[in-house]
Amino acid sequence: MAFRENIRLKNRKEIDKLKEAGRVAANALRVAARAAKVGTTLIELDKLAENYIRKAGAIPSYKGYRGYPATLCLSVNDRVVHGIPNNYVLADGDIVAIDCGAKLDGFHGDTCLTVGVGHVREDLTDLIASTQLAMFLGVSYCKVGLRMGDMASAVQKFAEERGYSVVREWTGHGIGSNLHEDPQVLHAEQKAGTGFRMEPGVTITIEPILNMGTHKCKLESDGWTVRTEDGKMSAQFEHMVAVTKNGPEILSYPDPEFELEAGK
Ligand code: MF3
Ligand code: CO
Ligand code: CO
Repeated sequence: MAFRENIRLKNRKEIDKLKEAGRVAANALRVAARAAKVGTTLIELDKLAENYIRKAGAIPSYKGYRGYPATLCLSVNDRVVHGIPNNYVLADGDIVAIDCGAKLDGFHGDTCLTVGVGHVREDLTDLIASTQLAMFLGVSYCKVGLRMGDMASAVQKFAEERGYSVVREWTGHGIGSNLHEDPQVLHAEQKAGTGFRMEPGVTITIEPILNMGTHKCKLESDGWTVRTEDGKMSAQFEHMVAVTKNGPEILSYPDPEFELEAGK
C-alpha cells in the first residue's frame, strides 16, 4: 500500500476486496429497502440487513463503531443522518434513507439510498431523484486530474439549481480497512481547483445529503440522530468509488438479483 499525504492509495487487489465488501453492503441495503413498506418497523429492517450480512460471512461495519448500536442508519423524513433503528412503524408517504456498512475480509463496504414508502408526494420523489443524480454527478468527477473542490462545487451547483441545499457537517470519507479514513470528502462550499487530487488508487465515498429547506442541522438528545433545523425533508445517496486511470469505478453495486425496480 502506497501513501500520499494521509491518503492510503489502494492497489488493484485491495480495490477488488473493497468491491466485494461493497457488494455485500449493497445487497443488504436492498434487502432492507424492499421490506420498507407501510407497517414495517425500523428494527425489522435492521434485522433483515444484519442477517444478510452475517450469512454472507461479513460483519456490520457500523455496529459498535464509536458505540453505534445497529447495522443500519435509518433516517426518516426530516432525519438527516444516523437515525437509530427503533420501533417506529413506517407510514404511507414517508421517505427513509437507508445507510449500510459491511466488513468482509478486512475491508469495508459503505452505501446508502433513499426510498419512498407507499404513495410519496411528488416534491419528495423529486428530492430523492435529485439527490441520486447529485451523487452520480459527484462520482463522475472522481477522475484523474480533478480535485475534491471540482467535485464539490459541481454537486452544490446542481443541487442549488434544483432548489435544494447541501448539508455541510456530514461528509464522505476515504474507505479501506478503516470505515472512515483520510481524506475527508466535502460536497459543498469548496472552490474548484482546491482540495485533494483525484489520482489512481484513491478510494472514497460520495454521499451528498440534500435538504428541501435549510442546510442546517440539529442533534437529537440520543446523541446520534440528526434532524434538519427547520423540520423539512432530507435525502441521501452514497456510493464508494475508486479513482482509476480508466475513470471512476463504483465499488458498491449490488448483484443483479438484488437490484430494485425502477422508482424504488
Ligand atoms: N453514515 C456514515 C457513513 O456513511 C456511517 C455511520 S457510522 C455510524 O460513513 F456508526 F454512525 F453508524
Ligand atoms: Co454509509
Ligand atoms: Co460513508
